[in-house]
Amino acid sequence: MCGIIGYIGYRNATPILLEGLYRLEYRGYDSAGIAILSDSRIKVVKTAGKIKDLEKLVKEEDMIGSSGIGHTRWATHGSPTDANAHPHLDKTGRFAIVHNGIIENYKELKSELQTEGVHFTSETDTEVIVQLISKYYSGNLEEAVARTLKRLDGSYAIAVLSTEEPRKLVAARLGSPLVLGVGEGEMFLASDVPAILPYTRKVVYVEDREIVVIEESSWWVFDINGNYKTKQIYFVDWDSSMVSRGGYKHYMLKEINEQGSVVRNTLKGRLKENNIDLSELEIEKELIHNIDKIFIVACGTSYHAGLVGKHLFERWAKIPTEVDIASEFRYRDPMISPKSLTIAISQSGETADTLAGLREAKAKGSFSIALANVQGSTITREAHRTLYLKAGPEIGVASTKAFTAQLSALYLLALWFADVRNTISETQKEAIIRELWQLPYHIEACLAFAPQVKELAQKYYHYSNFLYLARGINYPIAMEGALKLKEISYIHAEAYAAGEMKHGPIALIDELMPVLVLVPRDRLYAKVLSNIQEAKARKAKLIAVATEGDDAIKSFATDILYVPEVPEEFYPIVNVIPLQLFAYYVADILGREIDQPRNLAKSVTVE
Ligand code: F6R
Repeated sequence: MCGIIGYIGYRNATPILLEGLYRLEYRGYDSAGIAILSDSRIKVVKTAGKIKDLEKLVKEEDMIGSSGIGHTRWATHGSPTDANAHPHLDKTGRFAIVHNGIIENYKELKSELQTEGVHFTSETDTEVIVQLISKYYSGNLEEAVARTLKRLDGSYAIAVLSTEEPRKLVAARLGSPLVLGVGEGEMFLASDVPAILPYTRKVVYVEDREIVVIEESSWWVFDINGNYKTKQIYFVDWDSSMVSRGGYKHYMLKEINEQGSVVRNTLKGRLKENNIDLSELEIEKELIHNIDKIFIVACGTSYHAGLVGKHLFERWAKIPTEVDIASEFRYRDPMISPKSLTIAISQSGETADTLAGLREAKAKGSFSIALANVQGSTITREAHRTLYLKAGPEIGVASTKAFTAQLSALYLLALWFADVRNTISETQKEAIIRELWQLPYHIEACLAFAPQVKELAQKYYHYSNFLYLARGINYPIAMEGALKLKEISYIHAEAYAAGEMKHGPIALIDELMPVLVLVPRDRLYAKVLSNIQEAKARKAKLIAVATEGDDAIKSFATDILYVPEVPEEFYPIVNVIPLQLFAYYVADILGREIDQPRNLAKSVTVE
């Protein structure tokens, strides 16, 4: 969950590394550092704190050199201190390393090295790697790295710099992402593509157990046993303007506002006038006919999208669907048959638990589809097929546009399955397609209410607890709204299925517990209304997200946010917009670090 970067070429590495670290900061932001090779020695500047703190320190030093490595940290072993910040040097100062991952056997390795007289200067697991490289070095850096990697248990993406071979960087991965950027007379390494987008769009995805060597004008990849690998260069279809804030105060606000066009992009080419075309998936119709069960596996926001997906697959395609939090799924020994389909949903495509869930399902014979946003990410290489979300880079740690893209992809997939399995009529199909075309406009209509949501945030930001209620297909949206509020404003918020209130949580309700309720005019409208009355009778302040034109709600709710009228299945995608905005404005009023909430990281590559 840290970010690493490396550069070798003809320019000064320092600004390139710093800019890359800013773009990787979403991966971790408790400490940061860079190492530069300058005048035949390695210079390191590192500090606890954010990249801007590092940048201040770097300005005070003479950090000029044409190769270097950098790191932004999300602490796992050792607290976020200057000493534990990366890069780490070996005892001779000839080797420097940055690392993303966890070395599980570091304690044994550390005591072995200590008995050999190595003195450690940090509490990290990473330092053992660089000390081992130093121990094994006998004239060839990549060989020393390969020998070291054979001794490690755990996960890593590393980049290594050495005074011994100054015109070379060596990197490797196992379980943590790593890309190589191919430039003209310069090469880049990074945890993620956005870090190198200003310089190159040509990338090579490094695979597990591969070692890559870069020089200014050449690169090569081999496996841990020294066998050379042929690798493909991919052209990334993101550009660097996509990773700027574009005048918005936060990435999150920009990404919330992009959702109309994001959904258009997800649907583009896949939704035809009166039909749906997912031939890109290259899945035989027979396979779809034979699916007897769907397992959806995901974490966090992606899990909430999966919960909406369950309603769609069951309602439209008549396929029983289970949705699991990936960290639970992987250990519960699910009853997967070869006729089952596993859908793994992940924005980053690197979430360790989701990957483990996918592997578990595949090992049990399930066919698999990934819904992923990041091109070339691990999940896209491991699932049998990938349906890309096409949301563009999501930088804000709190996921927003990837969520609406996930919902859109699930609408497409469920509709396609229903069509192939003949579980909906032509008329139903055409009505759904018409609605899908309208979705971006509905989202844009919701976004236009941002000023009202902001006013509401002013009224409610000082409360310490919130309840979010909904029923049916909107219950996952209540969960998502509560998660958004928690993670960026640090206000406690809990979601409940509205019908469950009287079985316990109603005891919490008083005038200090605002209740945000999703009450669209759908089949469950009357049911939700009675739940609202129960809460109102206990003096709760009620914020209702209701359907435009619903005047009846006025006599129940303290405040109302309206969304456009849509068929029941599409309320999730419109209802989530005001909830995202509400969380955003509350957090902004409270002065929170919205794009980088405390303790979180964008992609969770550790278990
Ligand atoms: C919340 C959030 C997280 C992610 C979760 C899964 O706003 O962003 O809950 O949804 O960590 O991440 P991906 O989708 O990358 O697997």
